[in-house]
Amino acid sequence: MPENNEIKTEPIIETDNRLLSIPAGVSGEFKFPDGFLWGTSTSSYQIEGGIKNDWSEWEASEKRKKYLESKKLKNEDYSCGPACNFWNHYSNDFDLAENLGTNSIRFGIEWARIETENDVWDVEAVKKYREIMEQAHIRGFKIVLTIWHWTNPTWFAAEGGWSGKNAVMYFERFSAFVVKEFGGYVDYWVTLNEPMVHVANGYLSGKFPPNRHNIFKARKAFNNLVKGHKRAYKKIHLLFPEAKVGITGLINDFEPALKFGPFNILLVKLFHYFWNHRFLKRIRKYMDYVGLDYYFHDRVICVPPFRKNKNERVTDMGWEIYPKGIYNVLKYLRRFKKPIIVMENGLADAQDKYRAAFIKEHLYWVHQAIQDGIDVRGYFHWSLLDNFEWAAGFEPKFGLYSVDRKTFERKIKPSALTYKRICEENRLTL
Ligand code: BGC
Repeated sequence: MPENNEIKTEPIIETDNRLLSIPAGVSGEFKFPDGFLWGTSTSSYQIEGGIKNDWSEWEASEKRKKYLESKKLKNEDYSCGPACNFWNHYSNDFDLAENLGTNSIRFGIEWARIETENDVWDVEAVKKYREIMEQAHIRGFKIVLTIWHWTNPTWFAAEGGWSGKNAVMYFERFSAFVVKEFGGYVDYWVTLNEPMVHVANGYLSGKFPPNRHNIFKARKAFNNLVKGHKRAYKKIHLLFPEAKVGITGLINDFEPALKFGPFNILLVKLFHYFWNHRFLKRIRKYMDYVGLDYYFHDRVICVPPFRKNKNERVTDMGWEIYPKGIYNVLKYLRRFKKPIIVMENGLADAQDKYRAAFIKEHLYWVHQAIQDGIDVRGYFHWSLLDNFEWAAGFEPKFGLYSVDRKTFERKIKPSALTYKRICEENRLTL
């Protein structure tokens, strides 16, 4: 593990350390349960680099190029390309994660690398992933492995992607392969990352590949994702009966802008049901834990865009910073009667202005949830590195470490030291 002084540090620019969501007068030490998982999260496509899949294909498409040109945006800023070159830097990156005092790590594998064509398996890629897992393992990390994080092999996409007729069988076969090859390394499985985001962005808004606007295809993809998860769940348990398998859900904290507005309340119920609840309800018997990704609080209004937040503080993505929301969604997730792991929580903040306060405040509310008897077992910050933020390209900076886009040099951000202290002490001090 490198000593802290070997890692270059980003300079402190201007920070806002106000803990606005924490009640006045609250201070002290907030200890987390023994064995709490402290980690960072990444995904394969966003960090590895050099991947050819349905996303890279979409990035190279004429339609996409024209769109970027029309907005005067540079293709290279919006195409993943070498990403963070994690494929060649993984060992160093695990050192960086270790330096944060984290005891766990979440990363993904890329289906397109492993199954290059329908039923054609790349031995070299498997070998490399095994090396990656070995490196994480020897550092003592608990490994959380994501099997699918929105991206597909091109052959799978050509057959209709998740709305295709063989989608479930293909995913089941891939999952069976993965569990056979890597199962011994994995402590927690995420079969699917935020399936609702893929359905909404891929099949309704068209922001993500396959860029469709088709509610019937969306429905099909939704059902196939549900089935795909269940089949993968069974395959994993067949080989590893004690495995802990789940998905991550992007769970939003919806609240009515008008407390007594009947339409507001109705809309909140609808959004909550379709966005947060429906998928989890369908797989509730096939989850060993609930994986929570928390980013959004939505004060719902009755007219488009159906959200009007107070926005006292916003991230570089324009997303409201609303730490208490994590407590609210944890309260909702309690009904599944399963351990909960915060698999993602973070912000785009190029100046590193709010990140330290953001982490403290969210963890304060996670701690409150634990005090209320909610079984939260871990917290993974999104993300270890500044990485490729999908349709928004490389501009948003979610990392605890920055990454130089040309040299790939990593530097630790000041806020990462706040996280480090919490992880090392297993305690938040306010
Ligand atoms: C996704 C990540 C993404 C992050 C920030 C999550 O919903 O799983 O891939 O980078 O949000 O937008």
